[in-house]
Amino acid sequence: MKRRNAIKTLSISTLGANISTLKDTTKNDKKMWNQTKFTDLLGIQYPIVQGPFGGGLSSVELTTTVSNAGALGSFGMQPFTPEQIVETSLAIRKQTNKPFNLNLWVNDRDARLADFDDKDYQTLTEIFKPYFDELGLPIPERPQNLGPKYEDQLQAIFEVKPAVFSFVFGIPNENDMEKLRSLGIKTVGTATTVDEAIALEKAGVDAIVATGMEAGGHRVSFLKSAEDSLTGLFSLIPQVADAVKVPIIAAGGIVDARGIKAAVALGAHAVQMGTAFLATAQSNASADHKERLFDPDAKYTILTKVFTGRLSRGLKNRLTEELKEKGNLMAPYPLQGKFMGHLKAYPATSSSNPDFKSFWAGQSASLLKYKDAKVLMESLVHEMGKV
Ligand SMILES: Cc1cc2nc3c(=O)[nH]c(=O)nc-3n(C[C@H](O)[C@H](O)[C@H](O)COP(=O)(O)O)c2cc1C
Repeated sequence: MKRRNAIKTLSISTLGANISTLKDTTKNDKKMWNQTKFTDLLGIQYPIVQGPFGGGLSSVELTTTVSNAGALGSFGMQPFTPEQIVETSLAIRKQTNKPFNLNLWVNDRDARLADFDDKDYQTLTEIFKPYFDELGLPIPERPQNLGPKYEDQLQAIFEVKPAVFSFVFGIPNENDMEKLRSLGIKTVGTATTVDEAIALEKAGVDAIVATGMEAGGHRVSFLKSAEDSLTGLFSLIPQVADAVKVPIIAAGGIVDARGIKAAVALGAHAVQMGTAFLATAQSNASADHKERLFDPDAKYTILTKVFTGRLSRGLKNRLTEELKEKGNLMAPYPLQGKFMGHLKAYPATSSSNPDFKSFWAGQSASLLKYKDAKVLMESLVHEMGKV
């Protein structure tokens, strides 16, 4: 009898302790939503990262607007030469003294390139011939110049020493990770699966972007194929949160305070938003791309290999629909993108033919409201601050 009472007393007092902890946390969360492991790491005001954009869609204005607003502005350097990386970084530094993030693609040549022979190229040109004919363009010779190489681009990152270097499609080798650390550059790797997050933490990254299959742009997997790594963000965040200790940045389909709150509830310490910033006046996306992001049809996105040879998410258009079944016949990255450059103007402009253009977008594009990056930031901060 005595023993039963003791158990009763113990469980009631444990319950009491749990409730008071819960109350404290709730109070704390409401007051300090913006103070997380991630903001502590970088000394920034808000746990919001403007996603970097490759393909020439980043801009100095967007990066600096976001960093100056207290979040982390990013610049995707994927298409740039080392000289352009240095020049662009100087331009960013002229407009902000806040931390910013530069981004590269670690694996920038598909292994399949070596096997993609003349016969394969011929098959590719046959698929696209009707489109070239329609525009009155000649079929291009197989492109030889495949663009700048990651190894050279990384030397420019060492030279520029941004506060943050984020990367996708792999992990820099041990020496490069060591060099980044010794230069005081914080590293942020990107995971599409929990195994990738574990590998990134093992390599010593400072934070991990956990990116769900909702995200706009490329599926940046590196351990398994993109097709085998299509985890949604609601499943990915808690799995990654249980597996690693470093701060987690959730990405994919987050465009407003509801998304930020959900990501934090699932275990994220920050969010990375791409499409919402791409749609603003400050990004380098073409005017018709921005317009389409606000179109009711922006609900319909698709994962396609048509534009670059790697699986990526964008709005449906004529090309993605007509070539839906031909994904595996596309050339490997980056050859497919260079080939497609002949069909769509590069970088795409408003006057280039929308049938053949990539309109990158994440799955939540139809929720977008804001057309200015500063106003978007203000709205997020305002909404997050509400009880
Ligand atoms: C046009 C476009 C280009 C992108 N390029 C890159 C890139 O070069 N490097 C990278 O790490 N992420 C890239 N991303 C991913 C974004 O940084 C971000 O993680 C993603 O857009 C988040 O999903 P959301 O679009 O649903 O917000 C790109 C996204 C888009 C829409």
